[in-house]
Amino acid sequence: MNYIGSKYSLLPFLDECISKVTDKDTSSKVFCDLFSGTATVGKHFKKKGFQIIANDLQYYSYILCQQYIGNHKALYFSGIEKEINDNRTSLFASEAMNNVCQYLNSIKDVEGFIYNNFCKGKHKDNEEYRLYFSDENGLKCDAIRQKIESWHNENKITKNEYYFLLATLIENIDKVANTASVYGAFLKKIKTSAQKTLTMQPAEMIYNDIEHQVYNEDANTLIRKITTDILYLDPPYNQRQYSANYHVLETIARYDNPVLKGKTGMRDYSDQKSSYCNKRKVKETFDDLIMHADTKYIFLSYNNEGLMSFEEIKDIMSKRGEYGCFEKQYNRFKADNASETRHIKANTTTEYLHYVICK
Ligand SMILES: C[S@@+](CC[C@H](N)C(=O)[O-])C[C@H]1O[C@@H](n2cnc3c(N)ncnc32)[C@H](O)[C@@H]1O
Repeated sequence: MNYIGSKYSLLPFLDECISKVTDKDTSSKVFCDLFSGTATVGKHFKKKGFQIIANDLQYYSYILCQQYIGNHKALYFSGIEKEINDNRTSLFASEAMNNVCQYLNSIKDVEGFIYNNFCKGKHKDNEEYRLYFSDENGLKCDAIRQKIESWHNENKITKNEYYFLLATLIENIDKVANTASVYGAFLKKIKTSAQKTLTMQPAEMIYNDIEHQVYNEDANTLIRKITTDILYLDPPYNQRQYSANYHVLETIARYDNPVLKGKTGMRDYSDQKSSYCNKRKVKETFDDLIMHADTKYIFLSYNNEGLMSFEEIKDIMSKRGEYGCFEKQYNRFKADNASETRHIKANTTTEYLHYVICK
């Protein structure tokens, strides 16, 4: 997913730096990704054999983490095998997952919350409507989302199967969203990628034998309850609240019929406002986090344009032990550059990886 602050392209840098600091210590087994977003960093360290603690304030991110981090065993969807006429030819879980997705790809359209609020739908040309998705995809999204929920409510699928299906829907609906990048605005005309039909391509499964932990809490609340070996922090750098920029994904994940406001159809996010996006609160909040971390190592990704200065971060982290920092030049987040979209200029920033070896 194209996500603000995603560390996907920085993974080799993060891996190399974290290894340099921690590799001699073979007793480090737990890796906590406290601001998980798309779960990219947690996924990487899960594949390396760590036990992962994943967390994010946003519910869509929690769903992605439940799938990519929490799920680690095969899913067979035995409870709906008959209903979906699954004539499986093998015992492979991948076949079962494919078959469920195929079934969902072909179910009958439903006029639901997404179609009614985020598509042109029945609105007339001269009326105001929100064009986040084509009508076709809005109808499909509602049908799939409602089917997943009814299977879940009727106990026909397990919690893990539910997370797999929801994560698959979130990933694939995002691919056909009619936005320049985030959901703070939609485009006036349906762009080419948004004209494609929503298709449930199964979300990645990462198998292993370790039980992981996944949370949907404020980082500063959670830090008081967990113990880890490596704590990786990737908080927002600036004032842009993720709850505002990804509100449509949040609504699809929760599917809770929220009251929507204004042109963009924003849901109320007063309980999801992050102090890391607030110039007045960020330093104190970060200090509180660092001082309450029960861990051997802390790593923080932050860039040179963030709300906290380099020196402020260094001072706070140094209170816990031996401080150090790596840096890399990096191309900032870009909106896609289709002709009808607002173009955000690509330019480079310095990406820092601050760390402290705790006393
Ligand atoms: C820079 S993004 C993380 C990106 C992630 N590393 C990735 O590669 O996808 C920051 C994340 O922090 C989450 N967040 C913001 N404030 C938070 C808080 N107080 N507690 C937990 N998560 C928070 C946001 O929802 C967002 O997903």
